Amino acid sequence: MSNERAEIAGSRTERDKHAYDEQGVWEVSNKWHMRFPHVFFGPNTRRHDEMFDRVMRESAKGKRVLDIGCGMGDLSEQLVENGAAYVLGIDISESLLEHAHRRERPGVMEFRLQSVEEPIAERFDLIAGSSILHHIEYRDILPRFYKENLLPGGLMMFQEPIGGGVMIRLFTWLVPRAHTPDERSFMKSDLEWLMANFTDIEIVPFNYFSLGLAIVSSKVSKNPHNWLMRLADRWDVALAKRAKFLWPYFRRCLIFIRKPDR
Ligand SMILES: C[S@@+](CC[C@H](N)C(=O)[O-])C[C@H]1O[C@@H](n2cnc3c(N)ncnc32)[C@H](O)[C@@H]1O
Repeated sequence: MSNERAEIAGSRTERDKHAYDEQGVWEVSNKWHMRFPHVFFGPNTRRHDEMFDRVMRESAKGKRVLDIGCGMGDLSEQLVENGAAYVLGIDISESLLEHAHRRERPGVMEFRLQSVEEPIAERFDLIAGSSILHHIEYRDILPRFYKENLLPGGLMMFQEPIGGGVMIRLFTWLVPRAHTPDERSFMKSDLEWLMANFTDIEIVPFNYFSLGLAIVSSKVSKNPHNWLMRLADRWDVALAKRAKFLWPYFRRCLIFIRKPDR
């Protein structure tokens, strides 16, 4: 860790804002991800992106949606394309929001410079986020969103990184510039906390074998749908269903939390 990184004082939110607005964490992280495309475009990742998209399509149509930690607004735009009546994206990074604001459509897709720590008055049918919970004090914030901002019958859906696997630990340790100082990929205790604190919750982990094999496959083949990656996909689907104790060592997970009608 460089001295500059170690010296940033203030709250967790201020340090995150600094990392995105001044230190270019987003750009470094993206550059690294593009070195191993089969991690992101392999069959197991695709399968789960499609699952996330399918739930989004079924749940967003005609609905009011909040996208927390919206960044440049990619997920917000997807939500509108999937029929959401209105999407509000909030984020603390001015540099990322600058991109989001260019996509703004008043009354349909709007963005606001606001931390998830500040209470929001509006209520939503769907609260969504991609790679945000591990940046925030989600154990305080998520229950508040559920109670105060999610309408009865509503859904919260997220995609988050899991941090227990050796590859992820190594990447976090070797490339600190691709991470904000306070982000904490989910560990076993986070998955357990989520399951203990929400009654109607589904967690779907993905990329166990698909991570390590994709790193090799990215360097030896052009096609992410090669036989090795398809095999890894089949193993990962089976492992996710049958070996819950391995969930903390997958790369990522989808999280769906439903609120009863009454
Ligand atoms: C890994 S990025 C994900 C961005 C976007 N959701 C995506 O997937 O492209 C994490 C985002 O969380 C935002 N963030 C971090 N702390 C936040 C907070 N307290 N309130 C709102 N956004 C926050 C960061 O500014 C950043 O845009």
